[in-house]
Amino acid sequence: MSEKMISQAEQKALVGKVAIDSLIEKGLIFSGMKIGLGTGSTAMPAVSRLAERIKDGTLKDIKAVATSFQTSIACEELGIPVFSMNAKEIGGKLDLAIDGADEINPDKQLIKGGGAALLLEKIVAYNAKTFVIVADSSKTVPSIGTKFALPVEIIAEARTSVFAALQNLGASCTLRQGVKKAGPVITDNGNLIADIVWQTPPDAAKMESEINKIVGVVENGFFTANKPIVYVAQADGTVKEF
Ligand code: 5RP
Repeated sequence: MSEKMISQAEQKALVGKVAIDSLIEKGLIFSGMKIGLGTGSTAMPAVSRLAERIKDGTLKDIKAVATSFQTSIACEELGIPVFSMNAKEIGGKLDLAIDGADEINPDKQLIKGGGAALLLEKIVAYNAKTFVIVADSSKTVPSIGTKFALPVEIIAEARTSVFAALQNLGASCTLRQGVKKAGPVITDNGNLIADIVWQTPPDAAKMESEINKIVGVVENGFFTANKPIVYVAQADGTVKEF
């Protein structure tokens, strides 16, 4: 008898739904709350499930902060009210943030920013009381920083000096290029993205702060300070939480 395996796309769809329902059951998602909503193909099904639970009357008076144009457009289409982090209704603090990740190590340190939304994602994640990650099984790895390139958001005018400083930290650097757009990716904040990798796994917590000391770096995609609750969909159709 063969077990039915589900695809990566099915895992992404499943984990968002399961996580939102589980967080409602645990009382971590509740009426009247302030919630940060992430970016990417795994965060989107979670946003859709949140909208369904608003529509079915389970959740009322939800105030969302979106981490990208992608997410704010989705919220607009799904009828989820979106606020700025600075709005008086939000006051710079969130009850919970839910997002995807590119890599997750066993210490729950992350690489994020595959969708170039790391700056707002980190502002949201680091100002949330509870941080939640939803992921498919390909995202859990033994160590981070050598396979999936770490995104670093940089000021265009500082590209050359920032690349030299990143190389001094032992990393190889590539400027992220646009798709269906000539030239580099321009982030939602008008900056460039350097994608960087090491040959041996770096100390992610140390590098997160070292990289941000470079003049011209806006933010980097190591997320090590606010340890998330992680939901990971498995190929066998179950979802594991750790
Ligand atoms: C966007 C992100 C995403 O959460 C991350 O890239 C994962 O994306 P996906 O769920 O599409 O695999 O950090 O900046």
